Amino acid sequence: LTPERYPVQRLPFSIVSEEDLAAFESIIPGRVITDPEQLEACNVDWLRTVRGCSKVLLRPQTSEEVSQILRHCYKRNLAVNPQGGNTGMVGGSVPVFDEVILSTALMNQVISFHDISGILVCQAGCVLEELSHYVQERDFIMPLDLGAKGSCHIGGNVATNAGGLRFLRYGSLRGTVVGLEVVLADGTILDCLSSLRKDNTGYDLKQLFIGSEGTLGIITAVSILCPPRPKAVNVAFLGCPGFAEVLQTFSTCKRLLGEILSAFEFMDSECMQLVGQHLHLTNPVQESPFYVLVETSGSSAGHDAEKLTHVLEQVLNSGMVSDGTMATDQRKVQMLWALRERITEALSHDGYVFKYDLSLPVERLYDLVIDLRNRLGPSAKHVVGYGHLGDGNLHLNVTAEAFSQELLGALEPYVYAWTAEQRGSVSAEHGLGFKKKSVLSYSKPPEAVKLMQQFKAMLDPKGILNPYKTLPAQA
Ligand code: FAD
Ligand code: MLT
Ligand code: ZN
Repeated sequence: LTPERYPVQRLPFSIVSEEDLAAFESIIPGRVITDPEQLEACNVDWLRTVRGCSKVLLRPQTSEEVSQILRHCYKRNLAVNPQGGNTGMVGGSVPVFDEVILSTALMNQVISFHDISGILVCQAGCVLEELSHYVQERDFIMPLDLGAKGSCHIGGNVATNAGGLRFLRYGSLRGTVVGLEVVLADGTILDCLSSLRKDNTGYDLKQLFIGSEGTLGIITAVSILCPPRPKAVNVAFLGCPGFAEVLQTFSTCKRLLGEILSAFEFMDSECMQLVGQHLHLTNPVQESPFYVLVETSGSSAGHDAEKLTHVLEQVLNSGMVSDGTMATDQRKVQMLWALRERITEALSHDGYVFKYDLSLPVERLYDLVIDLRNRLGPSAKHVVGYGHLGDGNLHLNVTAEAFSQELLGALEPYVYAWTAEQRGSVSAEHGLGFKKKSVLSYSKPPEAVKLMQQFKAMLDPKGILNPYKTLPAQA
């Protein structure tokens, strides 16, 4: 960590002693890692922008083990950093100093699957893609999908309330997660792992942990509602001459495709250039200022293809779209999705990435990208816009050869103030983690921040769970 980039001081937690290691070893024999080489990867985030210096990694297999570990840490005042797949975008998944890393990697068992309700119950460390395969074999799909599916854990997804590529159709995890098991800071196991669609008995406590980024408890198991696997999936990849046409195409798709529209993603020409340059992906359509990916998922292949073809005719004839291609076979569908899903990876090859994940009124969504290109001029390598247009979520990314304090100064607080002026959100789906915790107040009033701090103090009075993350330090 560069102190001038992130001014933060270690809080007075205890330091892991030989006795602590022995206690951990007795709880999870053979799964206490202290080898610096093995610790390297879990001390650095996916973007390689933040780095901690934890000396111990714990790999429990059961909720009971997590409970015993936390009971010990609570008693000893040891700080704990919960970690899933370590694919988070805001530096929440790695320690800031020497916090104990508690990984869910070995908590990867499916507990049950009900093939009438579609409710899957599993441990928190199951990898999203593996769950996807598991439910697909049973003719269901996971209600969420993201580019990090090969590494991220379902517990991490819930802890960040990840949005992703299926949000438009299946909604937020706040709706699809029907139950959670959570271990609290003092080691108490909170069993709210219900498999009920409807349950209005008291406050819905699980909601507090969804999106709490490891600061309120450790999610150990998840009960989640999986939709039936759609029989027909079609993808269209289209080039649009301007952002106004992207919006018109979106309205047309919503109106004419109705319930079968399952994704509407967009990217600008600079993104296309970057996936070409760094990942050698080929643009399947004529070069255009913008591209959109439209996906339909339904139960009748002929009916869906007919509907989508009709939409394509309309948007092409009216000039909203200048060129397009359609896919139904899995290989081409995946090829088209890769153009959008792998932008993050392409950006990481382009240099240091300044990442912003904003909710904005959809009609203003791209104005900020244009504005910033003018504002930053040649000091930025690329200023790109892409994201989940169907959800009003812009990913604004700026790359540079290396981190630059000057560039950061030109970006912040400008981007946050711009977003607040539109009553947008400064974190649509990635959370606040370590890197964005101080900008919470751009999207939430002081009363809300105070209440969040009170919840934190009540659930984790010693502040051992993921300290320095999500909430601004209390005055
Ligand atoms: P981690 O990165 O390990 O942890 C994230 C946070 O959750 C940390 O604060 C950590 O302490 C906490 N945490 C992890 N597990 C637990 C647990 N069991 N209990 C309590 N706290 C826990 N995000 C989106 O929202 N939408 C996207 O479309 C999307 N696409 C991505 C594409 C790529 C290529 C990459 C690299 C990332 C993407 N992300 C996206 C961000 C990231 O994948 C998600 O935030 C994901 O949900 C994190 O899961 P994880 O298991 O990797 O968690
Ligand atoms: C995405 O939608 O690709 C992810 O949220 C990751 C990113 O913002 O780059
Ligand atoms: Zn995203």
